[in-house]
Amino acid sequence: MKMLVVFVILLHVSQHASAVEVVEGDHFVLLPCEFPTFELMEPTVEWSRSDLSPSTVHQRQLEGDELTEQNQRYSGRTSMKTDALDTGDLSLNLTNLQLSDSATYTCSVREFGRQWGRSEVQLQVKERFPSWAIVLLGLLVVALIVAVGLLVHFRHYFMSVLKVDVDSGVESVQLPCKTIVHLFKDVRVEWTNSYSKVHVYENGSDRPQEQDPYYRGRTEMKKDLLRTGDLSLTLKKPTDGDTDTYTCTVYSREGNILMKKQVELKVKDCHVEVDSGVESVQLPFKTTGDLPQDVRVEWRTSYTNRKVHVYQNGSDRPEEQEDDYRDRTEMNEDLLRTGDLSLTLKHPQTET
Ligand SMILES: *[C@@H]1O[C@H](CO)[C@@H](O)[C@H](O)[C@H]1NC(C)=O
Repeated sequence: MKMLVVFVILLHVSQHASAVEVVEGDHFVLLPCEFPTFELMEPTVEWSRSDLSPSTVHQRQLEGDELTEQNQRYSGRTSMKTDALDTGDLSLNLTNLQLSDSATYTCSVREFGRQWGRSEVQLQVKERFPSWAIVLLGLLVVALIVAVGLLVHFRHYFMSVLKVDVDSGVESVQLPCKTIVHLFKDVRVEWTNSYSKVHVYENGSDRPQEQDPYYRGRTEMKKDLLRTGDLSLTLKKPTDGDTDTYTCTVYSREGNILMKKQVELKVKDCHVEVDSGVESVQLPFKTTGDLPQDVRVEWRTSYTNRKVHVYQNGSDRPEEQEDDYRDRTEMNEDLLRTGDLSLTLKHPQTET
């Protein structure tokens, strides 16, 4: 009794029992086929593809390979073991794999025109990198580059909290806020901080009546903000009392929030440290020069809020200062012109 036995070699991972999977460009693949040809007198083994014409992929007879009818595609790419017909191992060695090699291969054994056995092997040759994957990867890379570029270019619009640091005594500080949204004329812009309305703009003009009196006359927005979308706020003469988080909110006429940005403002104070026993210490403070004649300057301690020195209408006012600072403080002569309001404190003590 003649029997056909098929052994399946699984290359890579394959779920189909009679399927072989390889990757394009692999050096070779063995298509398995086994049959006791040694029991036949004059066996002919043919590997073929029924979807091709001519269909012969490889043919072996007792005399050796018979390739006159071989399909051109397989020329020089096929081989079987030299002793295949003696051992019954009829596996086909296919080299230099191509995508078009994916097909169902038939291994058939004949003798004198009679077919003794036949088996099929499905070969799947996969692309090393599928072209859609390359295209997708390319698109992803381009998208990433564009996104990073946009993010860098418009970082002001995306960064949730911007930080602005200034020294106290500067003329003004700008709290940036820009929008790419087109602004209509009836838009309302509010600058607020933790405690109050700092600046309000609506229907094309500022609304000082709505702002906290503490900020009256100290705030300014750009003239052409509707056109440019630059909603930055200029805060004049900032002090450490202005240190806070400021929010720039844009409302539509219906009261919907179109945009909201936050800016952290830190107005830095000066820190002076001296050893006890020194002759004197200067507490520096410089503002803009050419101050009006009737200006009033007060130096106070921050927590106990005690008056250390008072200057008004062009002269010191020792009657207003605390007794223990009497004769120990001094300000510059021409402070109105220079704007140098530094205080010299003599014989500083730990408690001051
Ligand atoms: C298949 O043929 C190639 C090229 O001749 C050879 O390098 C390879 O070892 C063969 N594979 C087997 C299992 O005989």
